[in-house]
Amino acid sequence: MEPSRIGVLGSGDVGRALGRGFARHGWDVTLGTRSPDELRAELGPSEEGVAVGTFAEAAAHGDVVILAVLGDAAEAVVDMAGPDTFAGKLVLDATNPLDFSEGVAHLSFGGTDSLGERIQERLPDASVVKCFNTVSNSQMVDPEFEEGTPPMFICGDDDEAKEQTEAILVELGWPGVMDVGGITSARYLEALVPLWVRVGSNLGTWKHAFKAVQ
Ligand SMILES: NC(=O)c1ccc[n+]([C@@H]2O[C@H](COP(=O)([O-])OP(=O)(O)OC[C@H]3O[C@@H](n4cnc5c(N)ncnc54)[C@H](OP(=O)(O)O)[C@@H]3O)[C@@H](O)[C@H]2O)c1
Repeated sequence: MEPSRIGVLGSGDVGRALGRGFARHGWDVTLGTRSPDELRAELGPSEEGVAVGTFAEAAAHGDVVILAVLGDAAEAVVDMAGPDTFAGKLVLDATNPLDFSEGVAHLSFGGTDSLGERIQERLPDASVVKCFNTVSNSQMVDPEFEEGTPPMFICGDDDEAKEQTEAILVELGWPGVMDVGGITSARYLEALVPLWVRVGSNLGTWKHAFKAVQ
């Protein structure tokens, strides 16, 4: 897939890792945040190829938009950016609805609901693909796994959007995708994350990922 313009909504570990990674692969990146001036000053001129703007500016910039904000804030961020700004675009949703109030990660909600579905409902004119949410930010671009890089788990309702997602992931160094169905499957991809945290604790690493074997 030809590199193009991408808007990354989020300036945390995930937003920065994806912003830098996509820029390294030739994409024209704008990172979105509530505080563009502060983020610009913090990143400095070393971040070549990564511009900074508001959530609305980043969403408007991207032909592809990535949602990479705190799960509890994800729906509000979409509203801040303006749902119309996403119309006709591929939206990669990396968020997880996590609750750390008991110290270790639990889901804030799930089972019969997911952030992936809520985001797709808020953006009826965009194609939302759940992606990146089950791997560490350090592995999202140019992944390196000692036992081989597994396909990325994704789901979404639009087959063409999932094909586009796979082409992007292959360009970023992934072998392909494990497509687990429509956007309702986000319930299960998000539910993998509290398990991912517990497995990481057991293994003593945060670079691991799940793989289906047969
Ligand atoms: N960390 C990982 O390795 C990892 C891996 C897979 C998926 N994820 C998921 O990716 C998402 C981002 O994770 P993260 O670790 O980068 O950092 P994070 O702390 O979950 O998110 C930081 C971003 O959320 C925004 N934000 C926080 N509170 C907000 C509010 N009240 N209103 C509007 N925006 C708000 C921040 O905006 P400002 O820029 O304005 O501060 C910032 O851009 C999460 O949903 C997480 O579950 C994380």
